[in-house]
Amino acid sequence: MKKVVCDNYEAACIFAADMFSKQLERKPKSVFGFATGGTPLGIYKELTKRAVAGSMDFSQSCAFNLDEYYPISRTHPQSFYHYMNKNLFSKVKFHSTDIPSGEATDIDTECKRYDAAIKASGGIDLQLLGIGTNGHIGFNEPSASYSLHTNFMRLTADTINANSRFFSSEETQPTEAISMGIGTIFAARSIILLATGAGKAQIVRKLFDAKLHTDVPACFLLLHPDVTLILDKEAAGA
Ligand code: GLP
Repeated sequence: MKKVVCDNYEAACIFAADMFSKQLERKPKSVFGFATGGTPLGIYKELTKRAVAGSMDFSQSCAFNLDEYYPISRTHPQSFYHYMNKNLFSKVKFHSTDIPSGEATDIDTECKRYDAAIKASGGIDLQLLGIGTNGHIGFNEPSASYSLHTNFMRLTADTINANSRFFSSEETQPTEAISMGIGTIFAARSIILLATGAGKAQIVRKLFDAKLHTDVPACFLLLHPDVTLILDKEAAGA
């Protein structure tokens, strides 16, 4: 895992956006994997700025998202479908975009459809990840066993609590999700793991204490050949 420590959040997002630019230059038909949460918002702002200015062109590339709450309607303001449209897809033209459906009636069929769609696209070239304070990636929570494929996931109390900040008191917060599995994520050719802010310092330290903690899902990334961990100084504990 390659580690990059940037001065601040903005610099970390620009570093990540530059990696997206280079990937697009190398391969205009790239397949990108996107993440949600608070952390990637600065990257989406930067990618939008570049696409609007004409320095990036995603029109031949495909986008897949890591996960989606389940059940949730696409129009729900906290659905990841809504998040991606609001922050990227409504502003930047992609060849195609896909997100696991929080409206699916048959979860198993939806998970299989999603994995097949990723496979049919040629596989993910560059996957963006954030990290939960408990080490989750996508919605792969700490567990005794991990999914190789896109799957139905139950969220832990830690994650429900961390994400409650996005939901108003009148909104029902989902406690389950559909997420790419650890195997789906691991199949990406290159991965960016972005962690910023003091709240992520502890979990980032755990990634580097030279043991493979199987109770920290992000630790599996230590085994992947092309992961760039992008930190700001706070998350790096510097
Ligand atoms: C969510 C998402 C993850 C994200 C994580 C951290 O639950 N499923 O993909 O990386 O939480 O979110 P944040 O960036 O808001 O800290």
